[in-house]
Amino acid sequence: VTEETQTLQNPAIRSAYERELNLHWTEKTNDPINLLLGEEDGLYHHHYAVGDFDRTILNADEGVREKKILAEMHRMETEQVALITDPLLGHLHASSRVMDAGSGRGGTSFMVHDAYGSSVDGINFTQHHIDFSERLAEKRGCADSVRFHNSNMVATEFPDAHFDAVVTNETTMYVDPLEAFREFARVLRPGGRYVGVTWCWNDTTSPRRTEDITAIDKHYVCHINARSRYFAGLERFGLVPTEVTDLTEEAIPYWELRTASELRTGVEPYFLDGYRSGALQYLVIVADRTA
Ligand SMILES: C[S@@+](CC[C@H](N)C(=O)[O-])C[C@H]1O[C@@H](n2cnc3c(N)ncnc32)[C@H](O)[C@@H]1O
Repeated sequence: VTEETQTLQNPAIRSAYERELNLHWTEKTNDPINLLLGEEDGLYHHHYAVGDFDRTILNADEGVREKKILAEMHRMETEQVALITDPLLGHLHASSRVMDAGSGRGGTSFMVHDAYGSSVDGINFTQHHIDFSERLAEKRGCADSVRFHNSNMVATEFPDAHFDAVVTNETTMYVDPLEAFREFARVLRPGGRYVGVTWCWNDTTSPRRTEDITAIDKHYVCHINARSRYFAGLERFGLVPTEVTDLTEEAIPYWELRTASELRTGVEPYFLDGYRSGALQYLVIVADRTA
């Protein structure tokens, strides 16, 4: 079965845009920047990071420099997941249920489960990501509590009020926040918590999409949403923000480090320019569903 057939036959795909995006992910079966980093500890991330890095590694000997850069990127990507797990402290326990919308290769789902013992349902419409995450869940001995589903994150089959928390780790640039938050509010129980980490276009300072934003959209087949669209969606569906953190400055060093790696993909200058100019922002949004 070709990648194209897989995409065409996938019942979770609803539009021409989703077909294009799904094909993009379906073809990326062995991208070294994602696979090499996770080999050591079995945590595979498809997101970036915040905070500074150990700058001495840039002067390391040629023979070890790249290895050190990759280890540092992986450390940062793993620590990034605290942006999701920390706001759930006190909200989750072992019998809680969490939906991880756009679960990639499962890194965030596993770390939420490891932190609180909660069961996690990872939602993804890329079948090889699901197969990969399911194999990892078996290996990690948590396949009973961390499950992965081929489904569209804005139209899942879960009953109303099923989850105590919904998380999105750098996935809402593939969906319309209005559609996504309608679904997240539906599956969250009253008082349940949404935590989302995302990059977005700062439409308070840039009335139009900038060249950097357009270039990132093209590179990742995404559609970076305006910041105002997030808050319109939260408001519309009764998700009340309790904390919003702008980590744009903190998001810059990761891209400087990635620029120094042999695995850089060419998208790095657009993120750096976007963050430095302020047109692109890196936000953490914590919001609770009204009762
Ligand atoms: C950038 S990755 C993020 C993965 C993960 N959250 C992480 O932090 O490692 C985006 C993921 O979202 C999935 N995805 C994108 N749009 C989706 C949709 N509408 N429904 C389900 N999954 C989707 C892709 O297949 C991919 O696995």
